[in-house]
Amino acid sequence: MMDDGMKSHEQLKLWIEEKKDFPDKKIPILFRNSIPEIPSTTYGTFAIYKYPAKFIPQVIAFVLKRYAKRGMKIFDPFAGYGTVGIVSRIYGYEYELWDLNPIIDVIHETATMKPPRINVVDLVEELKNSKREFIPKWSNLNYWFPEEFIPILSKAWGFVHSLNDEIKYILLIPLINVTRYFSYGDEKVHKLYKSKYSKRKIEELLKKDWKRIFYTMLEKEVYNLLRKIIEYNYLRPKEVKYRIRSGIDTLETKLDYEVNILITSPPYLQAQEYIRSTKLELFWLGYDENYIRNLSKKEIPYRSVDRMEIHSEKYYEFRDRIEEPHLRMLYDRYFHAILNVFASLGEKVANYMCIFVGPAKIRTIPIPIDDIIIEHLQSLGWKHEVTFIDTIVSRVMFESKINPASGERDGRIKTEHLVILKKE
Ligand SMILES: C[S@@+](CC[C@H](N)C(=O)[O-])C[C@H]1O[C@@H](n2cnc3c(N)ncnc32)[C@H](O)[C@@H]1O
Repeated sequence: MMDDGMKSHEQLKLWIEEKKDFPDKKIPILFRNSIPEIPSTTYGTFAIYKYPAKFIPQVIAFVLKRYAKRGMKIFDPFAGYGTVGIVSRIYGYEYELWDLNPIIDVIHETATMKPPRINVVDLVEELKNSKREFIPKWSNLNYWFPEEFIPILSKAWGFVHSLNDEIKYILLIPLINVTRYFSYGDEKVHKLYKSKYSKRKIEELLKKDWKRIFYTMLEKEVYNLLRKIIEYNYLRPKEVKYRIRSGIDTLETKLDYEVNILITSPPYLQAQEYIRSTKLELFWLGYDENYIRNLSKKEIPYRSVDRMEIHSEKYYEFRDRIEEPHLRMLYDRYFHAILNVFASLGEKVANYMCIFVGPAKIRTIPIPIDDIIIEHLQSLGWKHEVTFIDTIVSRVMFESKINPASGERDGRIKTEHLVILKKE
């Protein structure tokens, strides 16, 4: 899209000032190249666990460097992996994170650790010899794991659940990753899904010395995590105040104090079903079936929501083009939910709302989610500063094909949009 890849932050700032007068205030950018101190999207602890639709850290760093001032409070009401918190620490900002998915607690605790002094070999040995057991309260357990693996998993999880110091967090994510590998779930896709590949994977494992493979893999994962924690600490994260509210429904929660900048990426229109994707992890972490089912019921955009008046012509224009009633219902639920959240939480946001949205289509119709958010929030007194348009790398590699007729790259390059709104 553009070659801003090597611009320094100062150059980028000037360049953005020049382009701010674009008629529609849309500015192309490559976030992943905009923050020299964070050299890659998977640097440090920014990718120790595969959470669907995760922010790349550079987006948050960009917002903080450009809009935040000393002493400001940063808030993400759909925090997912918690990237907003992990980045806020680097720049020394206090933060608050909310998410329906309780896995955020584990990721956050692990990702923000100081490098611990431990002997990995001794630790894995201790885990191997532990007598404690843990079996998740999951009626489908035997569907997802061959019975041969249950004792080894039960022992490892029993040991980890018995810990209550930082060592617990050195083991949790590595054990989650290994548990996923030892399940019939296909660890290559986000959803918990039994594929041909994953069934074969288990058949092959069962033929091998899988106990040795299990512990070797765990050890490797722990070493890898330790390396990532050290890398994150090179960025000199600060001790800042923070609060995490996990397992909560953002639609029904109010902010009890003022924040300065809200940065978030709301759930997708064709949603990911985050709870379903992380179900296996949640069961092993000790949540029960009822609790997990109740979380699923609250996910946007599948749950019903109170109606509100939407002040956006584009919202109605695109709504009219959707013919199937069930898709129209999804569209309505989605916008009523997210606009409600932004309107009501926005009352407690003193300076900026920065909302990151990905591409969305209903059937073949691309939905301009960003423009609809802007129109509605403008009617509530927010000023649209600018929209940054980023190109999605992985999708581009797979999806943008050369058109054989013209020999040119076809126009389906996917973009993600970061909308910046300022309180007037
Ligand atoms: C696009 S993801 C956010 C990803 C995040 N930016 C990150 O870096 O990982 C949207 C999040 O909204 C959460 N979510 C969905 N419905 C919710 C609700 N009713 N209340 C709170 N969070 C919800 C999902 O669990 C998911 O983590």
